[in-house]
Formats: sequence, C-alpha cells, structure tokens
Amino acid sequence: MDLGIRGRTAIVCASSQGLGKGCAIALAEAGVSLVINGRNHALLEQTAEEIRRASGVEVKAVLADVSSAAGQAALLAACPNPDILVNNNGGPPYRNFRELNRQAILDGVTMNMVTPIELVQKVIDSMAARNFGRIVNITSMSVKMPISGLDLSSGARAGLTAFMAGVARSVADKNVTINNILPGKFDTARLRGGFGIAAKRQHTTEAEAEERSKADIPAKRFGTPAEFGQTCAFLCSVHAGYITGQNILLDGGLYPAAF
Ligand SMILES: NC(=O)c1ccc[n+]([C@@H]2O[C@H](COP(=O)([O-])OP(=O)(O)OC[C@H]3O[C@@H](n4cnc5c(N)ncnc54)[C@H](OP(=O)(O)O)[C@@H]3O)[C@@H](O)[C@H]2O)c1
Repeated sequence: MDLGIRGRTAIVCASSQGLGKGCAIALAEAGVSLVINGRNHALLEQTAEEIRRASGVEVKAVLADVSSAAGQAALLAACPNPDILVNNNGGPPYRNFRELNRQAILDGVTMNMVTPIELVQKVIDSMAARNFGRIVNITSMSVKMPISGLDLSSGARAGLTAFMAGVARSVADKNVTINNILPGKFDTARLRGGFGIAAKRQHTTEAEAEERSKADIPAKRFGTPAEFGQTCAFLCSVHAGYITGQNILLDGGLYPAAF
C-alpha cells in the first residue's frame, strides 16, 4: 500500500533502537525524511546509517535527552515544522511503588507525560496551519492493565492518554490526528532487561522467565519492532485521517477483553 506520505518529514523520539527504531524504519520505507534521536552516540549514528542505506531518505541524528528542554530544542532545530511526530522515551525502571521517592515519581511523570505534551505543544499549531499532521504516542498496555512494578509508568502514560483525548478532538478538523499505540510485549532491549528481575522473583533462570512470559500471550510470541513500526506508519498515512484519539493495543491478544 502506498501510504501517501512520501516527502513528508518526521521527528521520531528515542529511536536508536527498539520500538522507536521500528517506527523510524517503517516511515523511511514510506519515503519520509527523518530526525531520529537517542543518547548513545555510536548506536544513534549506526541506526541513522542503517536507515539511510536501506531507504535512501534523509536521516538527521540528534544526540539528546528528549526529556530535557535542550534536547527538545535540538530536535525542533533539526526539523522545525514536522508533518509527523512520534513521541517515545525510556520508561521508569521496575520498582515496588513503596520505594519511589518524590523525585523518582516526578522523573517518571516528566518522561512519559510531560515530555510528549511539551513536544505536542511545539508542533501542533504549525501542523494545523498546514492542514496535515500525524502524532503517535508510544504508551503501553499498562494503561489498560496493571503490570507489577511499573505503576509509575502506567500512571504517567494514563495521564498522557487522558490529556491527549481532548487535544486530539481540538485539531481533528485540521487533518491533524493524535493516536496512542499500546505495546504489549515486544522483543526489545527493554523487554529483555526485565527477564533477569523476573527470574530472581520466580527463583528460576532468565531463559525460563522468558518462556513463561511468552506463554501468557495468546500469540505465543513477542511482537517485533518491525510490525510495531508498520502500525505506526499506517496511523501516519493519508489513509488514517479519520482515526484520531484512539488507543491501539498491539499485544498478540494478551489483554483479555472483548472491548
Ligand atoms: N518493549 C515492550 O514490550 C514495551 C512494552 C510496553 C511499553 N514499552 C515502552 O515503549 C518505550 C520504548 O521501549 P523499547 O522496548 O523500544 O525500549 P528500548 O529497546 O530500551 O529502546 C529505547 C530507545 O529510547 C532511547 N532513549 C531512552 N531514553 C531516552 C531519552 N531520555 N532521550 C532520548 N532517547 C532515549 C534509547 O536510546 P539511548 O538509551 O541511547 O538514549 C533507545 O533508542 C518505553 O517507554 C517502554 O517503556 C515497551
């Protein structure tokens, strides 16, 4: 399918690996020029080169912490009026909520709620003025279903979801859409980092913890960043202009509900 966005521009935050990278690759395949981002210089440059080689699109690599004001300014300097914004960031570490002090809570809310709101503030009016804009927020299945040890992530992302629900409706008549994609379990460094903790909790090996984690999913496998990216690219396409304010769950059937 031609997504109809060839020649458009996108900022894909936190995209040197994992889900953000999956989104960047899928947009590049659709002919979108990119700004990608991360804090590890070598990894970021390697990903930028990989995408350039595979797709031939322009890829600017912005080495920055997306949660900081300076990092956001650098992203916007690289692409002042993006047609597409994919909001992504790291997530708070697994932690018993009793262990979170005030600063840790504020940091989590800054990462997963304040930062994407700030970036939306910075791009939305120019999108509306040009009568085209696509914003995708990477949130989490934990918005709908608690995940033990990720309460801060769930709360901050639920706050973002509620905030964006109203904002999305305010620009729908300008062909600007805002949607959230909720990953279940995707095969990335972040997911793999959790198996060690799970293994300790379950008094088993990391390999066994991984198998148990997979066994819970009706699809019996983890999702791939590539299939995540394709969904993101479709939401950014011309064909998805009537989809806005939605929460798209990608979880291989893990969330057990009819609606
Ligand atoms: N994978 C899953 O199954 C899953 C499920 C639910 C929710 N999520 C959420 O989805 C998001 C992406 O997860 P992932 O699995 O793709 O993680 P990942 O594989 O660890 O990749 C995270 C990416 O974000 C970059 N990054 C992290 N913090 C950043 C910052 N402050 N500024 C700029 N770049 C930053 C990382 O690069 P640097 O570290 O070099 O900066 C890396 O490129 C996270 O918020 C995660 O909690 C993931």
